[in-house]
Amino acid sequence: MTTIDFCVKNFGQARLLTKLLSLPINRVLGQQLKLTSSQFDLIQSQIALLDSGYPLDYLLGSVNFCNQEFVISKDVLIPRPATEFWVNELILQLEDFKAEAESHTAEPLTTLVEVGTGSGIIGLTLAPLFDYNILTDISRKALEVAKNNQIRLCPKHPHIEFIQTDLLDNIILPTTNTNWILVANLPYVPIGDLINKEKNRVSAEPEIALYSGTDGLDLTRKLIHQLVSKYSGNMPSQIWLELDPRNIYEAKKIIQTTFQTLTLKPGTKWIYNILTDEDDFARVLVIKQFTN
Ligand SMILES: C[S@@+](CC[C@H](N)C(=O)[O-])C[C@H]1O[C@@H](n2cnc3c(N)ncnc32)[C@H](O)[C@@H]1O
Repeated sequence: MTTIDFCVKNFGQARLLTKLLSLPINRVLGQQLKLTSSQFDLIQSQIALLDSGYPLDYLLGSVNFCNQEFVISKDVLIPRPATEFWVNELILQLEDFKAEAESHTAEPLTTLVEVGTGSGIIGLTLAPLFDYNILTDISRKALEVAKNNQIRLCPKHPHIEFIQTDLLDNIILPTTNTNWILVANLPYVPIGDLINKEKNRVSAEPEIALYSGTDGLDLTRKLIHQLVSKYSGNMPSQIWLELDPRNIYEAKKIIQTTFQTLTLKPGTKWIYNILTDEDDFARVLVIKQFTN
């Protein structure tokens, strides 16, 4: 059989080859490979895509998030390190909270609702910490990716429900006094950034996963409106929202103004925190009910 010599030029190519040839990276990096002509043609076409700016993660078809390998496709956002950063922080806090609940100093947090789940990275990473999980997305194709990840990563969890819907529409909590947490990494990029999508290297990603009106807050405003109109009598005890550093303070203001009209249990108030990401950008708005 005729073979073609091939030498890997960079790390991106090396990662592609490890996947396409099922070889460990040390058998690929810096090595002279002998490829069949069909392997060579496939690799050349994938390298051409990579060189044209198509994301390596889409070509590889999976991404590591919080130590688990999630399948992704061009129908979902590529998971970002900033998201992994706050999900890790949330896990630590939930573990502490669980210990408090076990020692009867806090009421157990039983239910997770994630809106805009995409590939499911957030909801499926957190699902083992909850009895009941509701993961929503408006995109049917994104939900297919998330369901595939659920089958691969947490097949035995009895209660993970996927709902194709607009934010919180059609969501039914297990009971009317469910103690729940709402998490979301909704589209938050101002639509004006669309003209820079090539420069920002997001042109291959679905626009429905990125943009949200002039200031990037259309979906956040809609979410808060739905939340207050549907759940004013049973608001989540925690809300974690990933946002854009350019609009996170405005989001906080909108939410504070809306939430101050709600009646909470005596002695309970809302507390607001903004967490920065690993690059020191204000990235996550955390809102909690706090009882003295
Ligand atoms: C920024 S991506 C986040 C995906 C995933 N949670 C992550 O962190 O990688 C936003 C997701 O919200 C979904 N989405 C957009 N508009 C929505 C809506 N009105 N209701 C529910 N989901 C929506 C998109 O389809 C996309 O999957």
